[in-house]
Amino acid sequence: MTPHYPKGYVFYRNLHYSYPLINHGRGLYLYDVEGKKYLDASGGAAVANIGHGVKEIAEAISSQAQKVGYLNGMQFTHFPVEALAAEISKFLPFTSGKLYFLTSGSEAVEASIKLARQYWVENGQDTKIHIISRKPSYHGNTIAALSLSAREHYKEIFRPMLRKNIKIPAPYCYRCFWHEEYPSCQMKCADELEKAILKLGKENVSAFLTEVIGGTTTGAAVPPAEYFKIIRKICDKYKILLIVDEIMTGIGRTGKWLACHHFDLAPDIIIMGKGLTGGYLPLSALAVKKNIVDSISKKGRSFLHAQTYSHHPVGCAAGLATLNWIKRNNLVEKSSKMGGRFLKELLTLLNHPHVGDVRGKGLLLGVEFVKEKKGKTPFPRKKNYVEHFLSRAMTKGLILWPNIGHADGVNGDLILLAPPFIITQTEISKILYILKEVLFEIKNNE
Ligand SMILES: Cc1ncc(COP(=O)(O)O)c(C=O)c1O
Repeated sequence: MTPHYPKGYVFYRNLHYSYPLINHGRGLYLYDVEGKKYLDASGGAAVANIGHGVKEIAEAISSQAQKVGYLNGMQFTHFPVEALAAEISKFLPFTSGKLYFLTSGSEAVEASIKLARQYWVENGQDTKIHIISRKPSYHGNTIAALSLSAREHYKEIFRPMLRKNIKIPAPYCYRCFWHEEYPSCQMKCADELEKAILKLGKENVSAFLTEVIGGTTTGAAVPPAEYFKIIRKICDKYKILLIVDEIMTGIGRTGKWLACHHFDLAPDIIIMGKGLTGGYLPLSALAVKKNIVDSISKKGRSFLHAQTYSHHPVGCAAGLATLNWIKRNNLVEKSSKMGGRFLKELLTLLNHPHVGDVRGKGLLLGVEFVKEKKGKTPFPRKKNYVEHFLSRAMTKGLILWPNIGHADGVNGDLILLAPPFIITQTEISKILYILKEVLFEIKNNE
């Protein structure tokens, strides 16, 4: 029976949806107050990497909150922030990296482009202001992060408030911008970065901001191996900082601690979030090469980006406990192993006429739907294909994460699968079973 509670005061994210009231979560499952069980195949928004209800994380949070809940990042340091920074630095692709902690991914993206700007100013190159990013892409919902993103339905109403920048085509091979195929395409999408820099003038470009493996906007599109070799070379040639957004892909999601490791890539700034605490508290981080921090410090300054909740003791304690839990339970290895198995099973969906592509790495996997396979024709947006798909899956107790608009800015339907790394073969089979059921139900209703 639903307990009595005051209703009508919450400004919900979705104003046209009847929200189930969740009571608790355990492992891969969420349980609502009516007793319904949900299999969390998307880890919420690719966040719940270690699963729900892990007691050790709750205890670490409680223990730190009892010691000290808040400290001003301008006045004190504390054990959780020092220890978490040291833990993260162990898997960074550069030595002596420094960690700056914030709360959300969008904030960290904003901070990263300000940091790039300050770095250039401290180095006497104050004409460097432009950030180049990619399309499709997603870097967050605050004004600058949204400006740098190419997720058109999020931007529509706000466009007059957003800043313009050059966006080069992402390595989204299924829908190559030039309708070419790898390798005969010769990686035009990577070379576009050089063209964009030359167009703006290298003396005016501060940084290139990029996801490593696509998040929601390209449904886990994995670039060809040489993509980031070309990108790194171009950034070095023109002295452009390379900022990678690992907010979704970091902390084991793609089967390595960072998606950068799949490409032997050493960026200048790495942004993390989401899985850093497995969702137990909001925490994001910038991992920054030492030379960037040093050049600010040498000028007698600090990074000009104060935020009340930066370097938060309880957030960092949650992050530290999460990383320890991941290590102790070999969850990064599990993400790689179970991701491989899951992908293999998902590939069988390609037999269905509405499944155009299946892709991904580790436990970040995407299934793209099409109306017609040969021409990769998307469903018309007004059909709301993925919305119907999600709603049917939810009725069956399966939680998925959608994206729309990737095909041409308006049309396109895909789902992202990003379950907790503790997923077993039983759950993979359950998910596949429901996905097949929903695919056939929708087809039969056409
Ligand atoms: C790749 C990527 N960057 C940035 C963000 C924004 O993070 P947040 O929603 O925590 O602000 C997200 C969120 O989904 C993301 O997936």
